[in-house]
Amino acid sequence: MIPISKPMLGDEEIAAVTAVLRSGNLVQGSSVTAFETALQSYLGVSHTIAVSSGTAALQLALEAVGIKEGDEVITTPLSFAATTNAILSRRAMPVFADIDPRTFNLDPKKVEASITDKTRAILAVHLFGHPCDLDALQQICTRHDLLLIEDCAQSLGGTYKRKQTGTKGIVSCFSFYPSKNITTGEGGLIATSEESIADICRTLRNQGQRKPYEHHRLGFNFRMTEIAAAIGKVQLSRLPDWLKQRKANAEQLTKGLQQRTGITVPFVSPESEHAWHQYTIRVSEDRDKIQERLKGEGVDARVYYPRVLYDQPVYKQWMISGSCPIAERATKEVLSLPVHPQLCADDLDTVITAVQRVIV
Ligand SMILES: Cc1ncc(COP(=O)(O)O)c(C=O)c1O
Repeated sequence: MIPISKPMLGDEEIAAVTAVLRSGNLVQGSSVTAFETALQSYLGVSHTIAVSSGTAALQLALEAVGIKEGDEVITTPLSFAATTNAILSRRAMPVFADIDPRTFNLDPKKVEASITDKTRAILAVHLFGHPCDLDALQQICTRHDLLLIEDCAQSLGGTYKRKQTGTKGIVSCFSFYPSKNITTGEGGLIATSEESIADICRTLRNQGQRKPYEHHRLGFNFRMTEIAAAIGKVQLSRLPDWLKQRKANAEQLTKGLQQRTGITVPFVSPESEHAWHQYTIRVSEDRDKIQERLKGEGVDARVYYPRVLYDQPVYKQWMISGSCPIAERATKEVLSLPVHPQLCADDLDTVITAVQRVIV
């Protein structure tokens, strides 16, 4: 089976982990600092705070910018649940705006139409690694005095107008889960250029402490381990090559599939460099059957995501609703194909041939 994702872990990562184990220092030490510094310079931001997951990063970021009970946060219905869960963890209300059918990201016009006097922030997700229309979102924030928060869990390495995703919002969050563009096992990062936000996040991740046993806030244990950070630092050094490979793989898939009727290949906006976390096509016919047939052909295609978030049973208790027909249609048509950097040209040809064969 050609897998949808496969982390690249080699001798360098093993050596880095071994060095940490030999040091005996296992949590939030020099490896975490070195990983944070490397990401700070890669992204071009003033502050980076490594945490235990992308979910933890979102929770801390929302708390640090002051999202609180009664606030509304406009976000996308087509994302992983962690995005919405972070808003709810602040007892704030997610308000779902519809997406742009080409990029699968928030449509700025729909965002602006969703603003009320309770709106405090826009939580934008760069889905599949394609950057959102950040200028348009930023302009809306300026017009209505809102905060722009970026969920970059899927977009590490993607750029908008030559700047890394995660550098426009007041605060941004990354994930290093194994399927992501780099991994630390579990892990996440907060990026910001605001010293006060960075300071709150740093204390919150470690039980609210500034100094040992001096607790200034009601905090958490969202620390990153030294083992995770050591892996992450090696992974980050390899990221530029992997991004090139992802892009080349995406181009090969597009070349092989773009003429086929019944398929829409991914769109890339001219001001963006796609991070190709996922290569997501649309199919016009019976997507679930196509996915099943692809499994039979040895290709692990996946559906991100089969439901809009406001349709998830867990959220009914908060009477969360939404009406986003474009996102709802996407949940029936999207299909992500393997694009990760471990694939060779033959694997990609196998994917292309299989897709051609199963779509009737
Ligand atoms: C868009 C998005 N946001 C947030 C997360 C949460 O990240 P994590 O799984 O590291 O908690 C993920 C990833 O899984 C994601 O894809």
